[in-house]
Amino acid sequence: MRLVHKLVITVATLIVFGPVPFATVSAADRDKLLNEPGVYGTFAAFRVEDEWSRLDQRTRQAHLTSVKGVVERYREKLAIDTYLLRGLSGHGDFMLRVHSTELKDTQQFLVDMLATPFGQYLSSRTILNGLSKKANYVPGFPDALKTELKAPSESGPYAAVIPIRKDADWWALPQDQRLAMMQEHTEAALPYHKTVKRKLYHSTGLDDFDFITYFETAKLEDLHSLVLALSKVKEAHHNRRFGHPTLLMTIKTIDQLIEVLGK
Ligand code: HEM
Repeated sequence: MRLVHKLVITVATLIVFGPVPFATVSAADRDKLLNEPGVYGTFAAFRVEDEWSRLDQRTRQAHLTSVKGVVERYREKLAIDTYLLRGLSGHGDFMLRVHSTELKDTQQFLVDMLATPFGQYLSSRTILNGLSKKANYVPGFPDALKTELKAPSESGPYAAVIPIRKDADWWALPQDQRLAMMQEHTEAALPYHKTVKRKLYHSTGLDDFDFITYFETAKLEDLHSLVLALSKVKEAHHNRRFGHPTLLMTIKTIDQLIEVLGK
């Protein structure tokens, strides 16, 4: 009787108010998290253990629905992007990119996700943390170059993450010498600015790297040529570690990702 009562109330609520959606960060707030300085970016790659595929289809779907609930709940204050690594990278099956103004919120989200029934089948493969900052060198570039950098870049379906560690000599150089080298870096990279969208995160002290570079493109060949072009400039001699890991993946919605993982 109590169950029937509850059901009647639920149906009545749906009729009066319609389905109540999860509150997600508004488009404007997501835009801020993705574009403003002072925002933390975490890249977390996971492998789905083999036991997962031995579960029956219904159980897998139920587990994935509950993890989707956790993602939607945290989307109230975090910007969460989802990617499929499986088939393109040996560093895991999927990756989450999480932006937040407080790294502890990202941590809480990942802890809660791992505590779901689906989380029991996951092993964490890579977690990288970085911080978006105001441009260090661009303000010192010639105006023509600054203008070229303002042109829009095209996005996915591919995404790549390449963490980088600089050597001690790089940090010891005076700002004007680093500026000159970063201008050379930018000029060499400019032919690929239209087809490769980039985002830079500073990770010194937050991780084993100094930078996390993130790219989206529809033309992987251009990403390849871009990295080759940049390996020839002086600034590249100061890369002590480049990649390891390099993560290559496709950008997916949470529903697309769930469909692949549920199979
Ligand atoms: C679309 C192509 C690219 C363009 C137009 C570009 C441009 C730039 C610019 C303008 C900066 C200076 C940002 C500032 O003022 O702080 C920069 C920094 C940097 N870029 Fe690129 N870049 C591109 C691709 C790449 C690639 C492929 C990598 C390596 C995988 C890379 C690694 C870095 C790193 C590590 C920094 C930080 C350097 C530092 O602050 O010491 N970039 N890039």
